Formats: sequence, C-alpha cells, structure tokens
Amino acid sequence: MSKETNLVSRREFLKDAGLVVGGATVGSAALLSACKNNGKSGSVTKYVCPLDSKEFDSLQALKDHYASAHEGVDLPDFKTLNINGVDYSVIINDYWSLAWVLRETLGLYGTKVGCDMGQCGACTVIVDDKPMYACLLFACEMEGKKIRTVEGLADYGNKLNKVQQAFHDANATQCGFCTSGFLMAAQALIERNSSPSEDEVRHALSGHLCMCQNFKKTIEAVVAAGGK
Ligand code: FES
Ligand code: FES
Repeated sequence: MSKETNLVSRREFLKDAGLVVGGATVGSAALLSACKNNGKSGSVTKYVCPLDSKEFDSLQALKDHYASAHEGVDLPDFKTLNINGVDYSVIINDYWSLAWVLRETLGLYGTKVGCDMGQCGACTVIVDDKPMYACLLFACEMEGKKIRTVEGLADYGNKLNKVQQAFHDANATQCGFCTSGFLMAAQALIERNSSPSEDEVRHALSGHLCMCQNFKKTIEAVVAAGGK
C-alpha cells in the first residue's frame, strides 16, 4: 500500500462532510427554553417573552401576551428544528450557529464546542445522515433537516447503542470532551458502511482532534462497532 493511501487529508474530510464555511459568533441570551435535555422525549415546555422574560406554556399564550403587553411590537419568527425526532419551535437570530442553539437554547449540552471555528470536530452532529460541524452551520438554515445529536444515540433508560458500547468496551475516551463528536462521526460512518476498514475509519475521523490523544483506541472502537 502506498504511503499516500494511508494519509488522511483534513481538507478532504471537510469537502466530504459538505460543511458550510462561515461560522457564527454568538452571544445573545436564548429567547425560548426547552426543558427536557435528553433530546428524545424533549418537548418545548416554556415560551419566554424576549422583552420581559415572562414564561408561557404555549406559543399562543405568548402571542396573546405580546398582543396585550407589547402592542405594536412584532413577535419574532419561530423556526422549527427537528432534533432527534422531536420538533422544537425556537426563535433564532440569523447569526446563531446550530451548536449555540443546541446548547444554549435547547439545553442539549452533549454537543461540545471546542474551537468554534471548524477545526476540532467536537461539535459534530448528524444532519440528514451526514456528519457536520454544528459550529459552522447557521441554525436558521436547518429547518426541514433531520438533526441528530449524541443525546439521540441511546434509548434513554435502556442500553447504549453499539457504537457507544464499542467506545465503552475499548476505553476509547479519556477526558471525554471530544467523545460526542467522535461518536456522531462514527455513527454516520457505520450507517453508510456497516463494516468499515481501519483506513476508512481513519478517514471518517480525520476531521477530529483529541487533546487526550486517544486516537488508537478510538479507531479500534469504531472498527469493532462495525464488526458487531
Ligand atoms: S467546535 Fe466545531 S469544529 Fe471545533
Ligand atoms: S478524550 Fe479528552 S480531548 Fe478527546
């Protein structure tokens, strides 16, 4: 095998992953909160008025409040994001990244933010079956797409899925900060290639950096997951 075939190009990974370049710097408070953090049974439970922070149980109640308490002020547009099979109605500023909305608006903290500039892979989620960096995606462009986060991998209260179990069995995490990103990339790979070779795993994970340097066991885990 030539040397080149073993080399994995991060540029190639980025191209394959179909990433949207042009990330967002975010900093505003969330306007809407969703309380269930597991992303499976999650449903929007509170609508928070962005003007006076009063909370309501339904969108209609918030609209009624707007009409009476803030007459003449337009209610911001709500967008619907489908995350782990659940539709969330959220207010999204145009410049918010998907990573920001997942974490700070919806409380899905399993998606980690490392570099926030498309270099480390910690924020990887699956969008319409492709692994993508959530820090580089504009949340406002995600309507109509199926987004999956690490919270959606296992059945809550039941067992880990086979990729998670393989990571556990191979002790493929250390501090764990980057693990959810690796898991999502590995999950996407296993779904399109049920038994990937080591080279294919290396390619699929080449967009991920792990400060703990646990790459060997991570690759072993994904190969093992494919064999199950
Ligand atoms: S946080 Fe998105 S790639 Fe690093
Ligand atoms: S396990 Fe610690 S940074 Fe990857």
